Amino acid sequence: MIIAAPYVAVGLGDSDRAPVVPRDIVPPDAGLVEYHPGDLIDLAHYEELDDDERRIVGAAVDSRRSEFGDGRWCAHRALRGLGVDGPILRGDKGMPLFPDEVTGTISHTRGLRVALVARTDRWRSLGLDVEVAQRLPDGVLSAVSSARERRSLQRAAQRAPGRSLGTVLFSAKEAVYKAWFPVVGRFLDFDEVELQLDVADAPAATAASSAASSPEVGGRWHARVLSQPTPLPTLSGHWVIRDGYVVTVCAIPN
Ligand SMILES: CC(C)(COP(=O)(O)OP(=O)(O)OC[C@H]1O[C@@H](n2cnc3c(N)ncnc32)[C@H](O)[C@@H]1OP(=O)(O)O)[C@@H](O)C(=O)NCCC(=O)NCCS
Repeated sequence: MIIAAPYVAVGLGDSDRAPVVPRDIVPPDAGLVEYHPGDLIDLAHYEELDDDERRIVGAAVDSRRSEFGDGRWCAHRALRGLGVDGPILRGDKGMPLFPDEVTGTISHTRGLRVALVARTDRWRSLGLDVEVAQRLPDGVLSAVSSARERRSLQRAAQRAPGRSLGTVLFSAKEAVYKAWFPVVGRFLDFDEVELQLDVADAPAATAASSAASSPEVGGRWHARVLSQPTPLPTLSGHWVIRDGYVVTVCAIPN
């Protein structure tokens, strides 16, 4: 039986909506589920989790339990779409532990929760990160990038002027870490990776995008791990700024 990987976005009250993460930046055989919560903190998805999952954040504040519940709700829905499910517990350094034969990644930010899952016969590991598309707070860009990376960002900015490319770099490094850690089991600091962004040619304007105040921009990114030895010397993926969010995806093939 061939099961089509899910690609869905759900809003408040189980309403359908268009996903923020474009279909073409996730592996075609991976399942993606987004949830768009409202402004109020809602624990409904948290309450639906398995006891062992709930215990992971049982002592946390409501906002944390809410985002945790939403992220796992997305992940379970995506897993079921692949025909697999089971508790997603927490492993070393906070990594999510997916059922055998599946790998996955979770991200949450203001107004958006996303989970991406795939079978390990095809994908060794996945990393996805979402951030609100806004300038990084003062001091953060210099803390997470080298002078060389910042020069490369200035060049990229000529093709995407006024866009939050510093946030894209930050997010792509977090996506690298989320994909890297379950494979290597070692913390990776921001200065251990050199990342370069490519900006794709602007997509042809559609009625929707030309009406939008900030049209979609995106491309590929390439990362080189500087610390040696490393079992994964290079990683790459896609990025996009869309609907007010930065989305970055890293997929390590098997
Ligand atoms: C772990 C980290 C990447 C999470 O990113 P974030 O923007 O703070 O938060 P997000 O909502 O996007 O992601 C959180 C999810 O990441 C996942 N995660 C946490 N630790 C992880 C790890 N070690 N490996 C893989 N995934 C991990 C979890 O699923 C978590 O959600 P959950 O706790 O509800 O299950 C970040 O907090 C961190 O520690 N960064 C430092 C390391 C780093 O990024 N290095 C860059 C090297 S180039």
